[in-house]
Amino acid sequence: MTMTDDNDLTFETRTRDIKIHGPEGFEGMRKAGRLAAECLDMLIPLVQPGVQTLEIDRLAREFVLDHGALPACLGYKGYGHTVCISRNHVVCHGIPGDWALREGDVVNIDVTVIVDGWHGDTSRMYGVGPVNARARRLVDVTYSGLELGLAAVKPGATFGDIGHAIQTYVESQRCSVVRDFCGHGLGRVFHDEPNVVHFGRPGTGPLLKPGMFFTVEPMVNLGKPQVKVLSDGWTAVTRDKSLSAQCEHSVGVLEDGTVEVFTASPTGLFKPQIQAD
Ligand code: MF3
Ligand code: CO
Ligand code: CO
Repeated sequence: MTMTDDNDLTFETRTRDIKIHGPEGFEGMRKAGRLAAECLDMLIPLVQPGVQTLEIDRLAREFVLDHGALPACLGYKGYGHTVCISRNHVVCHGIPGDWALREGDVVNIDVTVIVDGWHGDTSRMYGVGPVNARARRLVDVTYSGLELGLAAVKPGATFGDIGHAIQTYVESQRCSVVRDFCGHGLGRVFHDEPNVVHFGRPGTGPLLKPGMFFTVEPMVNLGKPQVKVLSDGWTAVTRDKSLSAQCEHSVGVLEDGTVEVFTASPTGLFKPQIQAD
């Protein structure tokens, strides 16, 4: 989501606004997260050179509707599609269209489904045919950044610890973390409190508490972190045209303070499997 301008709110205000969910919320999020993951699994064979992105979007929409769910993005703030497809230097919110995938592209596909009112929001990276080593390395760094961010969810940790874990790792790999978009609380609401930023200082931000649901969705650039939004009002690209990658999970904090990943792929396909060139 886009950063909102509530960063001047106090710690207490922000903490108070973060919903704490119960067992029925966890049940709802497990179903929604699983369907979102299955949708991204289903798309794997379609990510091939020459495939039109509108076709991918159409299949995603049919899949979601066939499973009794709703595509959360369709009609959201005027967005007209089920998925966002962001390739190469597109950071996020790429719009499916009559443009086709090309060999060597790295693409992020982001889907959000609503099942019984609960939102499952996930995205992952795909390679289109063989992909060069620079792009593969960026995808690896982004995937590991998400893993390390989620590993920071433990008793006593704060949202700042998640951002710090991601930022220190990504920057140690000579990549940069996008600042203009962030993760978000979710549940019955698509984009809820808090903003989950992918950078920060340890021990800052709200305390993670059992029952909190949110996304972690770092966007990582090979070059500088600055982005701009194109005149279509959606497509965000790197200002320096460097490659960008993203992956996203929806998660919940369990009673023991550890994390449950709602959008894990039931068949273990979340981790990008990209062919070398
Ligand atoms: N799924 C995106 C997210 O991770 C939101 C996309 S909003 C849309 O928050 F309208 F562009 F689809
Ligand atoms: Co999200
Ligand atoms: Co998303």
